[in-house]
Amino acid sequence: MIVLGIESSCDETGLALFDSKKGLLAHTLHSQIELHAEYGGVVPELASRDHIRYLIPLLEEVLQQAGIKKTEIDSIAYTAGPGLIGALMSGAAFGRSLAWSLGVPAVEVHHMEGHLLAPMLEEKAPEFPFVALLVSGGHTLLAYVKGIGQYELLGQSLDDAAGEAFDKTAKLLGLGYPGGPVLAAMAEQGEHGVYKFPRPMVDRPGLDFSFSGLKTFALHTMQSAAHEDGAQGKLSEQVKADISLAFEEAVADTLKIKCRRALEQQQCKTLVIAGGVGANKRLRRVLRDMIESLGGELYYPRIEFCTDNGAMIALAGCFRLMAGETQPLEIDAKARWLMQDLKAI
Ligand code: KG4
Ligand code: ZN
Repeated sequence: MIVLGIESSCDETGLALFDSKKGLLAHTLHSQIELHAEYGGVVPELASRDHIRYLIPLLEEVLQQAGIKKTEIDSIAYTAGPGLIGALMSGAAFGRSLAWSLGVPAVEVHHMEGHLLAPMLEEKAPEFPFVALLVSGGHTLLAYVKGIGQYELLGQSLDDAAGEAFDKTAKLLGLGYPGGPVLAAMAEQGEHGVYKFPRPMVDRPGLDFSFSGLKTFALHTMQSAAHEDGAQGKLSEQVKADISLAFEEAVADTLKIKCRRALEQQQCKTLVIAGGVGANKRLRRVLRDMIESLGGELYYPRIEFCTDNGAMIALAGCFRLMAGETQPLEIDAKARWLMQDLKAI
């Protein structure tokens, strides 16, 4: 079965073709970073319009890459939520209508389920059960995964998601958008130990997170650094790098402590990391060291499948289609949609 996957929940239009027997055939992506950069964040209306602009050219491109015709598509999977409603509607309306015109089934995919299953696109794929750390721009959660659609929520962020904390802190530092990759690049130039950030909520029991305090801590650190002797109210590039490093270490360390706690609680040795912040090299390194010390295994998707993409949607859709799930003719995009409400297959 060849599945066309369509992702359009935020600021990336991603299309992919996944063959249930041969694996991933092709994938293509258009990022809206340049479009939103001058506003310092995603402008929802511009995002929706841009998805509409790129869906057809990207479909043609992905078909050409895979060397197949539109009529060879057996089914279509599209992100139906959670995300920006206009952006979701663009991809969902396109996907559902294309499926109708081709006379093939369509299926809705939960964006976070797509992220969660993305490591299964790799040769070294995890087996159930496992603990999953999902860290994206909109969500930060730990789940115990017993199978597809069997997601037990262990903990989540009570305020900002990890990616959001990266984005907001990068904005405070004047580093631009999207914050995660630019802050991580800045941190490479930082010196260890110049600043020390707190590890929020690690001294309390439980597996919830809170990242908004780190952004405030960064602001206060910046303000006092700007008022130090000789700073003349400005931050040097080195100070920005030192703050970036201290912030990144605090996020990675906090996530590591909670992951370790979750693995011990569930008596599990398999950890999966997915979502945009999963592209962070320091986080991967810190988690790899932790899992090695436990004698366990760490799984993650290649960097390009950590952030939003069509391949993860095609894969998650393929699992659900093979289990017989299909979406009737109505188009039902959902800005909010809990992963725990998904059907087990
Ligand atoms: O999963 P994703 O592409 O979109 C959502 O579903 O939200 O995640 C985007 C988030 C952004 O907040 C971005 O700053 C962050 O992932 N991100 C990173 C890195 N690459 C992307 N954060 C830290 N380090 C990175 N290398
Ligand atoms: Zn995402």
